[in-house]
Amino acid sequence: MSALRRFDGHIVVVTGGGRGIGRATSLRFGAEGAHVVVADEAVTFADEVSAEILERGGSSESWGVDVADPSSVGRFFSEVGERWQRLDVLVNCPGHATDTPFERVTESEFVEDLSVTLKAPFLCIQAAIPYLLRSDRNPSVVSIGSVNGLRAFGNETYGAAKAGLINLTENLAIRYGPRGLRVNVVAPGTIATRLWDARVAEEPAILDRVTTLYPLRRLGTPEDVAAACLFLASSDASWITGHTLTVDGGITAGHGAFIDTVFGDAGPFAPGDR
Ligand SMILES: NC(=O)c1ccc[n+]([C@@H]2O[C@H](COP(=O)([O-])OP(=O)(O)OC[C@H]3O[C@@H](n4cnc5c(N)ncnc54)[C@H](O)[C@@H]3O)[C@@H](O)[C@H]2O)c1
Repeated sequence: MSALRRFDGHIVVVTGGGRGIGRATSLRFGAEGAHVVVADEAVTFADEVSAEILERGGSSESWGVDVADPSSVGRFFSEVGERWQRLDVLVNCPGHATDTPFERVTESEFVEDLSVTLKAPFLCIQAAIPYLLRSDRNPSVVSIGSVNGLRAFGNETYGAAKAGLINLTENLAIRYGPRGLRVNVVAPGTIATRLWDARVAEEPAILDRVTTLYPLRRLGTPEDVAAACLFLASSDASWITGHTLTVDGGITAGHGAFIDTVFGDAGPFAPGDR
């Protein structure tokens, strides 16, 4: 159990909480005293995470929810919100990225990327707002964005959807700030989760090669991202809203390959330094 208990008695919803970043975030909120509502379209994953929180002495419940489906989202938030009469934190995790090269991306792949990555947080935030506005515990929304929403890293349609999520967040921070609701984004770099399974199956060394591009010389972990989510949701961040916090090992700080090209062996990514 964590020594910090910043969320004692808070009602926290984590969508996509069954795996990866959402799982780590759910477990950390559970360890810090929250009642964690773990929602995932894969209900068995949500059940497992919820059971893990309970085993560790925390408080939790699990739900099967498809965050891209308006009726599933509507039912979920009205049942959970009415039961608890408020929500204190919403974390939006799911995203979807097609790997099809841009020239061949189909309309339905584009719609799928937008649907899970941008429409789903819109649906969830809109459905949660009446309950978040009833909270007197520094309520906030944290959405998982990506460095792809800030810079070009490929996966064009996914990146465009993540960029939209950042703009939606800024707009909602302005709209709801006067009523005490904060809205922020955490933008991770590469995190070795299930999301990478297909690419690793195709090229087992891909993540080792990607690691060399990161100034901190390691990939991120789901726990790195969870820590940032909890910070933004905590009272330590009570004057932070409309912000996108990169958790990216420094990859958006500059262009290592450019510096190497100019400075050769003295550059930060020179082979001797790897
Ligand atoms: N892994 C990375 O390298 C990385 C980098 C930057 C950003 N992100 C973002 O982080 C977020 C989480 O990714 P992850 O790596 O933990 O992925 P993951 O695949 O490990 O976990 C995603 C979870 O979301 C659930 N989910 C997917 N679609 C859903 C839906 N429609 N309704 C409800 N639940 C759904 C899945 O069942 C799964 O439990 C995503 O938004 C992703 O774009 C990931």
